[in-house]
Amino acid sequence: DAAHVLDRDCTTLSRHVLQQLQSFSAEAQDLSALMNRIALAGKLIARRLTRAGLVEDALGFTGRTNVQGESVKKMDIYANDVFISVFKQSGLVCRLASEEMEDPYYIPENCPIGRYTLLYDPIDGSSNVDINLNIGSIFSIRRQQGDDLDQKATDLLQDGHQQLAAGYILYGPSTVLVYSIGRGVHSFTLDPSLGEFILSRENIQVPAHGANYSVNEGNFWQWDDSIRDYIRYVHRHDGYSARYSGALVGDFHRILMQGGVFLYPGTRKRPEGKLRLLYETAPLAFLIEQAGGQASTGTQRLLDVVPSELHHRTPLVIGSPEDVALVESFIQERR
Ligand code: AHG
Ligand code: MN
Ligand code: MN
Ligand code: MN
Repeated sequence: DAAHVLDRDCTTLSRHVLQQLQSFSAEAQDLSALMNRIALAGKLIARRLTRAGLVEDALGFTGRTNVQGESVKKMDIYANDVFISVFKQSGLVCRLASEEMEDPYYIPENCPIGRYTLLYDPIDGSSNVDINLNIGSIFSIRRQQGDDLDQKATDLLQDGHQQLAAGYILYGPSTVLVYSIGRGVHSFTLDPSLGEFILSRENIQVPAHGANYSVNEGNFWQWDDSIRDYIRYVHRHDGYSARYSGALVGDFHRILMQGGVFLYPGTRKRPEGKLRLLYETAPLAFLIEQAGGQASTGTQRLLDVVPSELHHRTPLVIGSPEDVALVESFIQERR
């Protein structure tokens, strides 16, 4: 009926958060305001991306190398700074920890302690930026514990169960924001004519099994025998389809929607894998478990991993329960 249609068209992100929590408590208001800021960052980055080819100085490399040892794209820095600027006046976030910054950024003024910390990957899949393929931003929100006067941010070195909220923005043919505050996974599509993210899917559940397996097979000879055995298995059996975009957010979104498994295993050179725990694998693990799926390092539940430092890396096996279990069975066999 008309009222329902009107209602559906107007379920914005901040309203949805308050509906989720069925309360107007301080924390509910905080989370709603935090998600609103995330949405604003997403809109600003999406706008820049849609015009990147036309705007001077938007594409290409900065010539610098980040703490990860990666060549930094101009878009990495632009997006990194967008998140800082949208949270500066919020009074909600006192620290921002990002893939692109060795140490967290502390918002100097008017920052009451015990509030929130944003952990984020400003542009995930940077290698896709200059070729106009899908990229994303990944975010995770934790409560700041203690006053962190020495600015060592040691309270961030806790497992993924500490996350209050997590999600991502996928910059694709449309801009989609997916989030969870621990009450299911929900997706919103940006309506550019409104400048609002409008609810598109509620309580997303990952299928128990899916055909997609998503992994960079160029690393085949660097993997452990157990992973090679798994790959040989899917090569030999019907019903599997290889899909890999080079951007974790896009590959994850496909798995969330259609089922299957994404893997980024450790290699001989880098046994701990490439992906970073605090702002890549832990937020996605939070989401996939909320959607009825699983995430592990291959041997340990991902949400239980305690980081040794801010840019801690973990191997990742994530997706449909049956498909994650199959990968883990090959690893168990070889242990
Ligand atoms: P980022 O662009 O934030 O550094 O992340 C890139 C990550 C992830 O998005 C993707 O799944 C993976 O790197 C691709 O790595 P390979 O090119 O080694 O497959
Ligand atoms: Mn990077
Ligand atoms: Mn990334
Ligand atoms: Mn990144």
